[in-house]
Amino acid sequence: MRLILIGPPGAGKGTQARRIVDTWKIPQLSTGDMLRDAAASGSKVGKQAKVLMDAGKLVSDEIVNDIVSERIDQPDCANGFILDGYPRTLEQGDALEAMLEAKGTKLDAVIKLRVDDETMIERVVGRYSCGSCGAGYHDTLNKPAKEGVCDTCGGTEFERRADDNVEALRTRLMAYYKATSPLSGYYYAKKQIHRIDGMESIDEVADTISKILRAI
Ligand code: AP5
Repeated sequence: MRLILIGPPGAGKGTQARRIVDTWKIPQLSTGDMLRDAAASGSKVGKQAKVLMDAGKLVSDEIVNDIVSERIDQPDCANGFILDGYPRTLEQGDALEAMLEAKGTKLDAVIKLRVDDETMIERVVGRYSCGSCGAGYHDTLNKPAKEGVCDTCGGTEFERRADDNVEALRTRLMAYYKATSPLSGYYYAKKQIHRIDGMESIDEVADTISKILRAI
């Protein structure tokens, strides 16, 4: 299964990708996570990416395309993968198609999560994650069962992203509307897109995605 999740910041791409990993046993390839790892490593590319990411701006197509191309060549991607946050521009969409063609594979589905602008802001500004396993939570919408303890790994250290503030979020939203949302029409024209309601609960959205994937 080779799948893309598209949606604005806070649409639930990461949340749903982690559910699909559990069911389908294929890896989640989040370009945001890969770029944050590069930034944490202190590499030259990582340092360049961090400045752009913290401000909410997109990293260059060239850097991101190279990262994805290398990643999908890894053995754990042989049976498929979930692209979370990539492609994000029409150029990245073309680059992905060329990459997959060169590897003799193709996409199975593109899932677009639709959410209201106000909801995106509410979800992103209250978001945090487990510092040990990365499980995602929210101050009001998705709390761990026991306050201060991760449901998944029992970790007690949590972190918030540097770009989850109102100013960077407005820049991220602008980047989404200018550069990423045209991909919806792009994949519609290719008859690959499934647009679903990301305003429903996490479980309901996961059920809808499961039904789509089982039908493929
Ligand atoms: P990235 O890390 O991809 O961030 P993003 O696209 O802004 O998406 P988010 O991670 O903010 O949201 P999400 O949709 O995953 O929502 P989540 O599931 O966490 O990218 C960061 C930066 O990296 C970019 O700005 C850019 O600089 C760079 N970058 C990355 N990829 C790039 C690319 N391809 N090209 C160029 N630059 C790139 O959910 C959010 C919250 O809501 C959580 O708290 C969750 O618990 C809650 N929630 C989720 N679903 C629901 C629901 N259904 N109901 C209630 N609460 C929910």
